[in-house]
Amino acid sequence: MSSASIGIFDSGMGGLTVMRALRARLPGENFVYLGDTARLPYGTKSADTVTRYAVQASAALMRHGIKLLVVACNTASAAALPTLAETLAPLPVVGVIAPGAAAAVAAAPDGPIAVIATEGTVKGGAYVRAIQAIAPHMPVVQQAAPLFVALAEEGLHDGPLPELAAQRYLGPLLATVPRPRGLVLGCTHFPVLKAVIGQVAGPEVTLIDSAETTAAAVENVLREKNLLNGEGGGTARFLATDAPGRFAHLGQIFLGEPIDPGSVTLVDL
Ligand code: DGL
Repeated sequence: MSSASIGIFDSGMGGLTVMRALRARLPGENFVYLGDTARLPYGTKSADTVTRYAVQASAALMRHGIKLLVVACNTASAAALPTLAETLAPLPVVGVIAPGAAAAVAAAPDGPIAVIATEGTVKGGAYVRAIQAIAPHMPVVQQAAPLFVALAEEGLHDGPLPELAAQRYLGPLLATVPRPRGLVLGCTHFPVLKAVIGQVAGPEVTLIDSAETTAAAVENVLREKNLLNGEGGGTARFLATDAPGRFAHLGQIFLGEPIDPGSVTLVDL
């Protein structure tokens, strides 16, 4: 069972930023990643639709005999985590919101904390609840930043377009008094825009990316359940619901390592 794969899914390529942190921390693990590229974005869809998509994506990963599921999509974690945990039990299911909230409180304990995410994640208030579950009086301000998803998926990671978008989205957050000390990148697509976001936010704002803390949470669960696998040599396979060639080509930027086009399979959910 420990040699079984860790399943990861996201609406597209963004979750590869989480897989990158997982591969660095757990190099002996085998991974199977599903990007629902045909139906991205999830962030503008209703919680019911996102939950339906998330259940279908996890069912496809279950067919690969996974030992743990990582919901590497903030929108799906916010909308569907309880449903997935219940549907897939006893399979362990790890989302990105709780680890992201814990990282935010650790990085900016005196607050305030700002969150940028998709419309769905912001509307559902999952980060506000998760942060205030740890620090009940923490002021949290939020801003939906849907254009960042398109810019990230298009490979437009620097230059005037992401800079303008960052100024537009961060402007109102940075004008909050007192000024936020932590900024949660509450969408798996945003870490590839970190340089631009950091430049606009300024040096006194700490950027928080949940990838590292999610990887730590996965390691803890695997250790507890005695499911850790080896020291190195872990494999990676990919499933995409559309355009596998594009996935392999652009996905490398998110994953930080080459993706063999032969390792990406087109699937229908
Ligand atoms: N991956 C999604 C998330 O982390 C964002 C992209 C989308 O809207 O589908 O929230």
